[in-house]
Amino acid sequence: MRADEIRSRFLDYFAHQGHAVRPSSSLVPGDDPTLLFTNAGMVQFKKVFLGMEEAPFTRAATSQKCVRAGGKHNDLEAVGVTARHHTFFEMLGNFSFGDYFKRDAIRFAWELLTEEFGIPRERLWVTVHHTDDEARQLWLEIADISPERVFGLGDKDNFWQMADTGPCGPCSEIHFDLRPEGRRGTEVSREEFEELGEKGEFLEIWNLVFMQFDRDADGELHPLPAPCVDTGMGLERLASVLQGVDANYKTDLFTNVIARAVEVVGVPYEYDTPQGVSYRVLADHGRATAFLLADGVFPSNEGRGYVLRRILRRAVRHAYLLGRRAPTLVEVVEAVIDRMGVTFPELLGRREYIVSNTRAEEERFLATIDAGIKLFDQLAPVGGSGTIAGAQVFKLYDTFGFPVDLTELMAQERGYAVDWEGFERELDAQRQRSREDRKAAGIGVEADAFAMGWEEVPGDTADQDFAAYRATAAQTDILTFRRMEDGRMALQLRENPFYAESGGQVSDRGHVRGDGWSMTVNEVRKVAGRVAVVGAVEGDFIPGPVTAEVDEPPRRDTERNHTATHLLHAALRRVLGEHVHQRGSLVAPDRLRFDFTHGGPMTPDQVSTVEGMVNEAVWANYDVCSNQMAYPDAIARGAMALFSEKYGDVVRVVEIPGVSMELCGGTHVRTTGQIGLFRILSESGVAAGVRRIEAVTGREAFERVRRDERTLREAASLLRTREENLLPRIQQVLEQGRDLQKQLEKARTSGGGDVVSTLLASAASLDGVRVVTSSGAFGSVDEMKALGDVLRERLGSGVAVLAETEGGKPMIVVVVTDDLIRRGIRADAVVREVAALAGGKGGGKPHMAQAGVGDPSRVPGAMEKVREIVEGLLAGAPA
Ligand code: ALA
Repeated sequence: MRADEIRSRFLDYFAHQGHAVRPSSSLVPGDDPTLLFTNAGMVQFKKVFLGMEEAPFTRAATSQKCVRAGGKHNDLEAVGVTARHHTFFEMLGNFSFGDYFKRDAIRFAWELLTEEFGIPRERLWVTVHHTDDEARQLWLEIADISPERVFGLGDKDNFWQMADTGPCGPCSEIHFDLRPEGRRGTEVSREEFEELGEKGEFLEIWNLVFMQFDRDADGELHPLPAPCVDTGMGLERLASVLQGVDANYKTDLFTNVIARAVEVVGVPYEYDTPQGVSYRVLADHGRATAFLLADGVFPSNEGRGYVLRRILRRAVRHAYLLGRRAPTLVEVVEAVIDRMGVTFPELLGRREYIVSNTRAEEERFLATIDAGIKLFDQLAPVGGSGTIAGAQVFKLYDTFGFPVDLTELMAQERGYAVDWEGFERELDAQRQRSREDRKAAGIGVEADAFAMGWEEVPGDTADQDFAAYRATAAQTDILTFRRMEDGRMALQLRENPFYAESGGQVSDRGHVRGDGWSMTVNEVRKVAGRVAVVGAVEGDFIPGPVTAEVDEPPRRDTERNHTATHLLHAALRRVLGEHVHQRGSLVAPDRLRFDFTHGGPMTPDQVSTVEGMVNEAVWANYDVCSNQMAYPDAIARGAMALFSEKYGDVVRVVEIPGVSMELCGGTHVRTTGQIGLFRILSESGVAAGVRRIEAVTGREAFERVRRDERTLREAASLLRTREENLLPRIQQVLEQGRDLQKQLEKARTSGGGDVVSTLLASAASLDGVRVVTSSGAFGSVDEMKALGDVLRERLGSGVAVLAETEGGKPMIVVVVTDDLIRRGIRADAVVREVAALAGGKGGGKPHMAQAGVGDPSRVPGAMEKVREIVEGLLAGAPA
């Protein structure tokens, strides 16, 4: 029975029993911080179980998408190795909300398995919680199962809870006897049963939870408002039982997907080999990746995104072990979409998104993994053991950009320990080194010359209020001032809305106005811990109340660029890898410049992916928030800091939740949507291992779009075509140019521009009318015509007859100058007469005509007659 049929027969059965069949909920549980992913069918009904919400039904059934990776129920490391573990799976379940309880739950399960699905009764065994005599009695009564086949087990096996808190209760499990024929069906003790279970010879297929409690944060159990039922049966397992195979991976849910992986990788699939494990990892993780992306989880460095990233990377690593160096998981993900899309249309709807994100993450990771794995193999050879030194892990991380989590994972898998303390020490030492380098370079040492000679405004020594984060204007007064040598005035405002250049962001411009004077601020500096604004004053300066105003449009443009810089940084790390670190930046109103560590030029695809990602984040209109916190807390939360920067104890963290978190003192837009549009102008190298991106946003990006449009319009009009035809038109012009070039070359090599002079020199003259006749190799008819044009121009008054007799198609071309045309002598008439003599036919215009030749051997004779023919025509023509 195919899995799709099993799923629908399960749901149909419960529909018959009065259950509402509900769709699977998202893998991301709605507003439930206690849970990383939906890990069971009951998750969507959690509030109903707790009595916090009412459902319009008292019994329901679902086939629920589940992920068990990260958090409680974490199976990641076992996946692929065992026959049964998955990150993603489907759980079939029926639920009662204060409606039926143990009796009916047991009855339904037994009837469905033995009658609907026809599983032989003698292969089913049961466990109950050892205190649950009621359940045991019900099994004996309803299923008529012998008491020797019902085992009472403890909390570990027969008490189920969703997470550390929430609904829970004792449960009863149904097991399928998978022992080899011969041993199958024989009685076993409880201990033997448990042992054989470990070995997979008894397979748990269905868990019936009798939900009775809500566990609070202190671990206390509180009775639920009404006893409920929550059951869960893995579709993959049930399929393996009904399809008579001994592994979930051998069911039709996986075979196609694995087959596709085999097709892509090209290494044969054998179940009991390391390659087999890798294929199963790919198949399982491909399913998780497709479904998680479809439900909006994006690979990142925290929370759900981090789990997805680990899953993705584990898959990529296994593809790597299979010998693949190109994106592979993405192909598996496509196979998953093909296989499951009918049942889960969200996969089809988001196919593009799922595929492109998988590919991007894969490419990115492959680039970093390569070099790292080689070193890792030396450090921790398979089959060995011991501890990997902190310095080595640091080298992997620092020099090779090898993810620390991967080191951890691989060490674990190979049975090595890692000296994490040593790693931390190396990391600290590196920070210390860069701090000292900075000092040595004199960076960060305040030049204090400027701070001399300030006049304090009498009676006022209050501290400055730095208002730049919240305001662009202030009604305030002056704390101190001084006149500069160049005549400008410098002021320190009590409430200062001006930003002073820092962290790459340029200073604000603006005005300060007092009583009878005004100052145009063209410089902002930090002096003695305060901000000073500097500029020329008009009027008589007297300290007193002032209005301070930052020029708003450039400030807003700068903020767009600053937030965009953070988005760019995050996108670069996503696309290129975590080795990307900021090396320098400039954030101005009209552009941004971002220098970062990366080995070589980005591909055009990478640039375009990064640009796209930043714009996606712009359109998603994320909130941008900032918080002060202790430096170690910020680092622990994953905020990005510059290794080379010296930070105080308390730092400001600018966060675009889920996307970016950086230590930053700059000013930013409130929501990313304000950025409007982001365009990368260039990607280039500035030093070994350092790349630079220049980009624009908002107003400037818009202006550039307009400018580009104008250019296109003008180009189209110059080339006399419509914009949408520009490319073919340019192609055409280029080809024409190339052809002309070729003709020119040819003319040059075959005697140069002298062909024309030679022909002209050979002309016969009839009363001032020149007659040129020439046979030979002229090439194509177009070349002959081009030559004819030149002759027409240079003949003065005359007729030229050219015959192609060598190599090319035999042709005759005739040209006649305009004065003769006015006298009635026409090229088409001439060509007809000449051609007739050579057995050919032709025609054309009065100034130029052409004819084919019937008999090339008669051409010389015909050419000899040209002179006569022209003479004849001249004789009959007016002077
Ligand atoms: N919620 C129960 C389980 O996941 C049925 O096993």
